[in-house]
Amino acid sequence: MKAKMTLAKEFRIGDIDKRIYGSFIEHLGRAVYSGIYEPDHPTADEDGFRGDVIKLVKELNVPIVRYPGGNFVSGYNWEDGVGPVENRPKRLDLAWGTTEPNTFGTNEFMKWCKKADTECMMAVNLGTRGADEARNLVEYTNHKGNSYWSDLRKSHGYEKPWDIKLWCLGNEMDGAWQMGAKTAVEYGRLANEASKLMKWTDGSIETVLCGSSSRNSKTFGEWEATSLDLAYDSVDYVSLHQYYGNHDDDTMSYLARTLELDDFIHTVICVCDYLKGKRRTNKTINLSFDEWNVWYHSDNAPYERWSYAPPRLEDIYNFEDALLVGSMMITFLRHCDRIKIACLAQLVNVIAPIFTQKGGGVFKQTIFYPFEHMSNFGRGAALNPILTCDKYDCKAFTDVPYLESIATYDEENEEMTIFCVNKSMEESAVMSVKLLDFDGYKPVEFISMDGYKKGDINGFENPFVKPHKNDIPAIDGGEIIFEMKPFSWNVLRLKK
Ligand code: AHR
Repeated sequence: MKAKMTLAKEFRIGDIDKRIYGSFIEHLGRAVYSGIYEPDHPTADEDGFRGDVIKLVKELNVPIVRYPGGNFVSGYNWEDGVGPVENRPKRLDLAWGTTEPNTFGTNEFMKWCKKADTECMMAVNLGTRGADEARNLVEYTNHKGNSYWSDLRKSHGYEKPWDIKLWCLGNEMDGAWQMGAKTAVEYGRLANEASKLMKWTDGSIETVLCGSSSRNSKTFGEWEATSLDLAYDSVDYVSLHQYYGNHDDDTMSYLARTLELDDFIHTVICVCDYLKGKRRTNKTINLSFDEWNVWYHSDNAPYERWSYAPPRLEDIYNFEDALLVGSMMITFLRHCDRIKIACLAQLVNVIAPIFTQKGGGVFKQTIFYPFEHMSNFGRGAALNPILTCDKYDCKAFTDVPYLESIATYDEENEEMTIFCVNKSMEESAVMSVKLLDFDGYKPVEFISMDGYKKGDINGFENPFVKPHKNDIPAIDGGEIIFEMKPFSWNVLRLKK
């Protein structure tokens, strides 16, 4: 197949907020215990944090990590996780049917963030608790001192405030599976009051209202419109969550899901802007896509109820999942004027790019690589390429472009990168790129992942799905021609 792309600096969608490359750690399965935290592990540091995991988190270059849930947060008493460890209670976690030892809590996570070069996006419990506990947590983490909760933090050994800037107002509050699930009116009122009090405690923070738990939620659209209408003045973002899976073993429909994702994002933007118009206000509500990924391989995996940190949601990702993850990230960048935050759910072991063995090694899942490439090279501004390529029809969609692509332009570092997924399982794509400006820019690296079968996976012994470098294509009169193999992930980097 032949494809054509035209690019210019003016094709700018918007600046990329680095938080679009965020991730998520929940007290769930082995994300915390034997994931980021394992005091007996050979690579553990003095705080019990696994060094091998921190190294990979740094490679992913994740600027923000959401914590501590997820469904877990809706039953969490944050006070259980601070202070002397020997005094912390063990609690039943009703979200995941396990026992939470609370040996890792807020201060441990904040320390881990510092060591992993990332920041925290903290979620408060608006399921079983409310505005009071939420504002107390803001006081505990962010207030300088000379008040009950900030002095308690100091007495726990943390003199300086953690200064957490971004806060989630609960999690998936529309879902029946959520502890303390609510109607849109109940939630909108509560979120408004909680956010108000949290911001009165610290005026520098931003808050995220829970949107629907997915596009498939029965109340999708109505939920956003009603709850945001009630909380518009006190919140900054509305959340989106979406997981995909190739349940029917229909790869072409699976990879076409980004059309639906695009529509999902567009609808939420419309709801936000409808409310903005109705209010005649200048305040824009932006989007926080704070849970997204592939999730289906581990469905129905058995576990022992009320056990401690059992393996849960341990999807082992294959090659086609990596192509979908790359395509989803490209879709987010196409909306980077409105999506300011996105969190790959999750980071370690639980539906994650990093997989550990308790007491043992670690490997990079297939999805690690597209995330790593985009997070490291996809900085600056996103450019909307004019792209012509063949299209296909599948069970779920018609007119699906075989190629999914975006370009990013980092003016400061004089770099431009083209990311492209070729979804065709049969045909290579010969791409000819015309640069309308970008004088003096030349290709410096062409990375791809190709030649794999859709079901190929990585493991501890055999992490064989990984990127490789190709010959660097030439540039001639502002035109670059390069070939992308069938069923491939491609990254073409240019520098001045
Ligand atoms: O990420 C796993 C779970 O998915 C989260 O706890 C929840 O918010 C979502 O349903």
